[in-house]
Amino acid sequence: IAAALGSGPLGGRHVIVTSGPTHEPIDPVRYIANRSSGAQGTALAAALLALGARVTFVTGPSTIPPPAGAQVVRVETAREMQAAVLEALPADAAVCAAAVADWRVENHSGSKLKKTAGGAPQLVFAENPDILAQLSGLGDGRPRLVVGFAAETDDVIAHATAKRARKGCDWIVANDVSPATGIMGGSENAVTIITATGQEAWPRMTKHAVATRLASRIAEALA
Ligand code: CTP
Ligand code: CA
Repeated sequence: IAAALGSGPLGGRHVIVTSGPTHEPIDPVRYIANRSSGAQGTALAAALLALGARVTFVTGPSTIPPPAGAQVVRVETAREMQAAVLEALPADAAVCAAAVADWRVENHSGSKLKKTAGGAPQLVFAENPDILAQLSGLGDGRPRLVVGFAAETDDVIAHATAKRARKGCDWIVANDVSPATGIMGGSENAVTIITATGQEAWPRMTKHAVATRLASRIAEALA
């Protein structure tokens, strides 16, 4: 309702949210994917909408319905996601919650691969564009606030702090996705927000609660 009225703390602001996994084709029937459900990105988009933002929601394949009121752009691959994000600019803020595949299959086949006497196929990988780094490095067109996520398994804070610096984004939302945490694909998250000036560990809470809290931080930053 806030969004429809253009009111709320994010009224008049445009936020791009990337979400979900990407799928990178091997052949017409097979692809490389990852375990991202899109839950955190979807919850975040909903929370931003609730604060009155106009949200462009660029999502890879996900079974979670996108939030009502968002401008939804469905993509499959990292390169499609990159194009959709650049197309959605300008924006006041961008939050990259997608689990973008780091590599695509360079020698993907236009026809279904068949078992042959020659043995198993050899996949050749090429690195995908880094959407978060690209957004962070934009000159004039850079969103005022660029936020990334860092899903890590060991030395979570050290890896995420280095990642923030490397990518040039304003904030990194770090989370521990070790299998033992049950976070990947689960409904809860335990995050630490890393900025240029410090870090703040939030207690474990639902992904919905993380989204609400992050959205209000974003509103404060853009106020
Ligand atoms: N990201 C992106 N484009 C990519 C890869 C990552 O926009 N091609 C974004 C993700 O959406 C996330 C952040 O960058 O917000 C960090 O992703 P992550 O996979 O943790 O970082 P990488 O730089 O890919 O490093 P790693 O080798 O640890 O996977
Ligand atoms: Ca990665």
